[in-house]
Amino acid sequence: MNLPLFTLDQVSKSFGKVPVLKRINVSFQPGQVTCIIGASGSGKSTLLRLLNLLEYPTSGVIRFHEDIIHQRGYSVTTLRTKVAMVFQNFHLFPHINVLQNCMMGPLHVQNRPREEVEKTAIMYLEKVGMKAFMHASPSSLSGGQKQRVAIARALTMQAEVLLFDEPTSALDPELVGEVLDVMKSLALEGRTMLIVTHEMAFARDVADRVLFLDQGQIVVDGTAEEVLQNSTYPRLQEFLKRYR
Ligand SMILES: Nc1ncnc2c1ncn2[C@@H]1O[C@H](COP(=O)(O)OP(=O)(O)OP(=O)(O)O)[C@@H](O)[C@H]1O
Ligand SMILES: [Mg+2]
Repeated sequence: MNLPLFTLDQVSKSFGKVPVLKRINVSFQPGQVTCIIGASGSGKSTLLRLLNLLEYPTSGVIRFHEDIIHQRGYSVTTLRTKVAMVFQNFHLFPHINVLQNCMMGPLHVQNRPREEVEKTAIMYLEKVGMKAFMHASPSSLSGGQKQRVAIARALTMQAEVLLFDEPTSALDPELVGEVLDVMKSLALEGRTMLIVTHEMAFARDVADRVLFLDQGQIVVDGTAEEVLQNSTYPRLQEFLKRYR
């Protein structure tokens, strides 16, 4: 087996006195697609946000490769170029065009050469079907188009891991498919992805592994089939009923 990309050892997170994640032990392998499911408030976003230090753990240890990411001296900026996040509400920069959105991080954070960055950005915009819009302003795009640009932006960073926090839940239903199709093609390329989602059919199709989070703990962890079809865990069965 490969060395894990991420290893979480007894990781807890509280906001004030409220415990949100409780002694999480889990590791993530490169090349795997993991879907994280669970009820609202179970801690899914918090778990994802810990992995690129949008939140810090209250206790426990998070390693990216062999490095403890929340120790002094570890560069958060470098981490975030290797661990790219795609948000529910896209988070595109509104005042610059699509291509510039994709080039910003690689140019100014990673200090890569402009020519290479532009070539890479255009290649990924083409991959997500957005090359024709590269000079457009984000405000002129549909939600599905914006999210595909956000994915191209994450890819242009050449991140090792892509984190997705409910990437389709702000979209009109007819636009969900175009974003899931792009994510599916990335999964087939063997990219490492951690995806918080309520799209159970997508998870069944694409996930190598599914985690069910309940009240801040990973209570079911297995293949898509084990978790989504065969688990007898009562709270998971209850949760899944809502998606049938
Ligand atoms: N910055 C914060 N300050 C205080 N409480 C927070 C903060 N972020 C999250 N919480 C609380 O932590 C709990 C878990 O939140 P989290 O956003 O991780 O849940 P979630 O599983 O992603 O839910 P949803 O499906 O609604 O997105 C919730 O009770 C939430 O109110
Ligand atoms: Mg959330």
